[in-house]
Amino acid sequence: MKAAITATAKYLPDGVVTNHDLERMLETNDEWIRSRTGISERRIMKDPDKASSFLCGEVAKQLLDKRGISAEEIELIIVATMTPDMLFPSTACLVQDIIGATGAWAFDLNAACSGFIFALNTAARFIESGAHKKVMVIGGDKMSSIVDYTDRSTAILFGDGAAGVLLEPAESEGYGILDARLYSDGTNGKDHLLMSGGGSLHPATHETVEKRMHFIHQDGRQVFKSAVTAMADTAAEIMQRNNLDAENIAWLIPHQANQRIIQATAERMGLGMEKVISNIAHYGNTTAGTIPICLAELDEQRKLNRGSNLVLVSFGAGYTWGGMYIKWQ
Ligand code: UT7
Repeated sequence: MKAAITATAKYLPDGVVTNHDLERMLETNDEWIRSRTGISERRIMKDPDKASSFLCGEVAKQLLDKRGISAEEIELIIVATMTPDMLFPSTACLVQDIIGATGAWAFDLNAACSGFIFALNTAARFIESGAHKKVMVIGGDKMSSIVDYTDRSTAILFGDGAAGVLLEPAESEGYGILDARLYSDGTNGKDHLLMSGGGSLHPATHETVEKRMHFIHQDGRQVFKSAVTAMADTAAEIMQRNNLDAENIAWLIPHQANQRIIQATAERMGLGMEKVISNIAHYGNTTAGTIPICLAELDEQRKLNRGSNLVLVSFGAGYTWGGMYIKWQ
């Protein structure tokens, strides 16, 4: 038995921060940002009283509405995030509370930008084993809570947003999540993309705040090189393992970190850009949100047909990366 996506939903906050807004805060310019990243604007949740659980909760409510089911029917909620409202309780438990999914168990999964694919693959096992019939998988991050708006190398990249799916047993054989290859490399990844403060190694002190340790730090050039190789290799591996080619793939759904990385991945797959979803121009990098936001947009635009072959690929902090093959039900 395979697991299939039976509903999708997304939530982006209303606040828009354009490259021109950032020009007024930092030594940067619209031309540099667009040519190096593909980003023109990103969404930011301006209400300080709302955090990742709000973004993910809005997604969860829509998933129930779209599928026409009650919260009590949800058996498991997995939230992929690296910006939980707080270290504990998990954001998944807060989402459970928001929708009243009293019969569910719930936990967070942190694999940074690969969080959604890691969570989706984890959730699929619970469906395939017969343990559960209705699982919510949501990826969302309030990146503005950990972005240093004095650091032009990271402030331009990230935005807030969330999206998710409902996962259920596939109706017929050959549909749903058919393959996944997931990887991690802490040896090469641990020093290049991190937030060192606020955990058990460096709990919050005056010093950690002064040293700006509660913000993202990224060695962009290093991460870029690793991301291009890993995403392209993994996409090629998924294609080879599943006899996919440029003709029979309907959509590449890549993590939205940099338009140049997305293009390099498509080139390696021999795919024309008309088969690649990219919305980085409007949302920037929403971390665990990027891939399900793309899925939800394709679904809204009715661009997912029964039998469409989808390849999902991601790369993020850890390092973590992976690819997935879904035949749309
Ligand atoms: O989602 C998680 C995974 N993350 C990623 O995949 C991100 C991967 N990395 C990247 O996307 C790119 O490395 C960045 C977009 C972060 C940076 O682009 P780059 O082409 O790698 O630029 P760079 O870091 O090599 O910097 C080139 C120059 C530098 O100046 P010098 O040293 O050549 O004089 C930077 O100081 O551009 C400068 N620079 C900027 N200039 C204007 C860096 N940030 C900016 C900026 N505006 N915002």
